[in-house]
Amino acid sequence: MEESSTRKIYDWQSVVYDYTFGALVRKRIARAITHMNIQDGQTVLDVGIGTGGSMLAYPKHARVMGVDLSSGMLREARKKIEEENLQNITVFQGNALELPFEDSSFDHLFISHVISVVSQPELLIREAQRVAKEGAKIVILNHFLSTNRFVAMLEKWANPLCQKVGWRSDLALADIVAKTQIEIDYRYKIRSVDLWETVVTTNTKSALALA
Ligand SMILES: C[S@@+](CC[C@H](N)C(=O)[O-])C[C@H]1O[C@@H](n2cnc3c(N)ncnc32)[C@H](O)[C@@H]1O
Repeated sequence: MEESSTRKIYDWQSVVYDYTFGALVRKRIARAITHMNIQDGQTVLDVGIGTGGSMLAYPKHARVMGVDLSSGMLREARKKIEEENLQNITVFQGNALELPFEDSSFDHLFISHVISVVSQPELLIREAQRVAKEGAKIVILNHFLSTNRFVAMLEKWANPLCQKVGWRSDLALADIVAKTQIEIDYRYKIRSVDLWETVVTTNTKSALALA
């Protein structure tokens, strides 16, 4: 996956996203956001916010910024901000691999269905660790390569097709953890057999130094 082709794929998908993949994952997103336990006035960066399907799930007391590569996806997010009068949320176009923020800028980060879309997943996590404060929750919601060998074989086989629609199906969580030293508090699936998993982590700046 390269950012230039990804941008085009999601510009194109923006028109149908909320009725397709977006509808499928909305409840999971809302549940995952509760695991940040956002306190009054805290700041959240929603990385790859897309059409903003997450926005209604944030408490009104949260100050949320969303970044995304695709102007098409952001157009849909801005429509929702206006229609729902979400004054606590702003979105802007940018690359999650080069976040335009100083170190330790955010209380929490939400990374929903993006880590398997960017060209360098470990760089995305390092950027998240950098801009998150010490002790921040970084919540990652995504599909990861199965630990079941047969399922993993199918996922690897399907990968070229998945890449054509904008994500890769062969990303292993263990590789990300090994490369970024990210500390997992806990992880869960909402069903015993589920393609998607929520991974709740606590940011430690020492992990950034070790990686
Ligand atoms: C599958 S969508 C997920 C959208 C939303 N977070 C959700 O869970 O429904 C992936 C999003 O990541 C964005 N994206 C991909 N690479 C990115 C990057 N390098 N920087 C910022 N956004 C990126 C895409 O434009 C797209 O909107």
